[in-house]
Amino acid sequence: MPEMETTGLHLAHTAPKRRDLLQLGMGAFAACYAGALGYPVYRYLATPSTRAAAEGEISSLAIPTKDLPGPGTATMFLFGSQPAMLIHHADNSWVAFNAVCTHLGCTVGFEPENKRIFCPCHGGVYDMHTGAVVSGPPPKGLTVYKVEAANGNVTVSRT
Ligand code: FES
Repeated sequence: MPEMETTGLHLAHTAPKRRDLLQLGMGAFAACYAGALGYPVYRYLATPSTRAAAEGEISSLAIPTKDLPGPGTATMFLFGSQPAMLIHHADNSWVAFNAVCTHLGCTVGFEPENKRIFCPCHGGVYDMHTGAVVSGPPPKGLTVYKVEAANGNVTVSRT
């Protein structure tokens, strides 16, 4: 009989530990489950604001004219965290665009021999003067930046 009492005490003492362990396990599982569900939602919601913040890193950039190639060429550069393109046309005019294709985000390139801006991913073609879509899948034109050439610098800024 004394053994039964000891066992009974032992069980009574052990049962809450198991319950606590079970509750702890369930709590950890619930936290992991919430994290697994919540993280993609967080990423989905955070990405646009993160991008907007990145694009807002700088509002203008001055490039010394002496560092730029002559007319009929384009210079790729980073404008904040985004690739950008500054085209110096043969008539000595300047234009600048965000170089991220509006279709699926590839970086576009200038093709002076074809007088166009071209996206190599799916063949999107943009007008080299306006950034408007000429052909292909891009749903809209490239974002245009303001360009001012003065005092030995070409300054690109957001409009
Ligand atoms: S990503 Fe440029 S055309 Fe598809």
